[in-house]
Amino acid sequence: MKETVTGTETTEELPDFPAPRSGACPFAPPPDLLKLHDSGKSVLRVRSWDGTTPWLVLTHAAQRAILADRRMSANIGAPGYPHTTAAMKAHAGEMQPSINNTDGAEHSRWRRMLTSSFTRHRMRRLQPAIQQITDDLIDRMLDGPNPTELNEALSLPLPSLMICELLGVPYEDHAFFQKHAGVTNAVNKTPEENAETAGALRAYIARLIEAKMDDPAEDVLSDLGARIKAGELTLREAAPLGHILLVAGHDTSANMITLGTALLLQNPDRLADLRAHSGDPDYVAKAVEELLRYLTLPHLLARRAVVEDLEFEGVTIRAGEGVIASLPAANWDPAAFPDPGELTLDRPASHHLAFGWGPHQCVGQQLARIELQVVFSTLFRRIPTLRLAADLADLKFKEDSQAYGIYELPVAW
Ligand code: HEM
Repeated sequence: MKETVTGTETTEELPDFPAPRSGACPFAPPPDLLKLHDSGKSVLRVRSWDGTTPWLVLTHAAQRAILADRRMSANIGAPGYPHTTAAMKAHAGEMQPSINNTDGAEHSRWRRMLTSSFTRHRMRRLQPAIQQITDDLIDRMLDGPNPTELNEALSLPLPSLMICELLGVPYEDHAFFQKHAGVTNAVNKTPEENAETAGALRAYIARLIEAKMDDPAEDVLSDLGARIKAGELTLREAAPLGHILLVAGHDTSANMITLGTALLLQNPDRLADLRAHSGDPDYVAKAVEELLRYLTLPHLLARRAVVEDLEFEGVTIRAGEGVIASLPAANWDPAAFPDPGELTLDRPASHHLAFGWGPHQCVGQQLARIELQVVFSTLFRRIPTLRLAADLADLKFKEDSQAYGIYELPVAW
């Protein structure tokens, strides 16, 4: 829908955000979003689902500047914050402050609590465990029914097992937290569903932290329990942090495994390149960066409220307005990635923004990278005949979730 807005700022026709994807190429960002690059603008107004008209930041360079700018707030209760869903908007005022919705010194305090748990070195030490779990899951897949569904067989259990190990969450509870992660990320959830899911996950994490305060282990929830004992944190603060890590820690990587597998199976030449180089860690690492760029699964992020007026590339952006840095638009910006629609596994793509940019850049990116490198170097080597067991047109893509993905991916071999 195009509309004309007459106001103090603009009389131009506004594109809708988000725009629909194309059925012909569901892996690519929406064609109408990509067309906006032809306007030559880096920032323009769009119309959001609730009728508000936030600024869309389009280009890679502009997004790096905006997302690093301290005049941008991640506080979802701040005036003008461009909410993704009605449910999030309805509950914005009640949101507990945590790592993903605070700014400045308060945000740095949250980040510091996780620094030692997510170092590159600690993540690298997990690699043998990730490889072992991947091999075990593939063994089980090969012994099980053929065809099978990839989310169930591999994509969800691998990152779920890893985040459980890291946090100290019992994997037996995976049906519970995977269900609630789906609701957390759903765009069409009701405010009631949102509140129920957040409450259930927080109560669950709070119980685990309390138990670990009496009987600590080497895991992130025990570390948070120790901080509570030391008076640095309250249980009410720690529970939402554990909730964010549990959801962000498995649902994102799981969607990336499924989407990446489907995309490679649709591109046999690229898949052959990857298979030929599956023993070359540098090639595999580059291929994973290119898949992250091409697919950009946080397709509705990143969102901020403006807290102080700023002049940006000839545009005045005022305090109290919303800004959406569309990460897929940056990752398909031809100025940053020539021929962005070409899947080129060995292109230098590590400057993509799939993990965001600036102070809120993804905490778990090293873990996600290692999981993806292990999966994509192992799956097609172990199952060279892997193929889609459904037509692309019959797959249901997660346009209605904050983490893009595919609900079910039947595969055969
Ligand atoms: C392919 C996998 C992943 C992708 C694409 C991804 C993407 C992102 C993006 C784009 C942001 C920034 C959002 C913003 O600026 O508003 C973010 C933040 C975050 N991610 Fe990830 N993520 C992934 C995996 C993970 C994992 C495995 C974990 C945890 C173990 C994790 C934990 C977090 C946390 C805690 C934040 C909030 C950081 C902050 O606000 O300071 N993510 N992620």
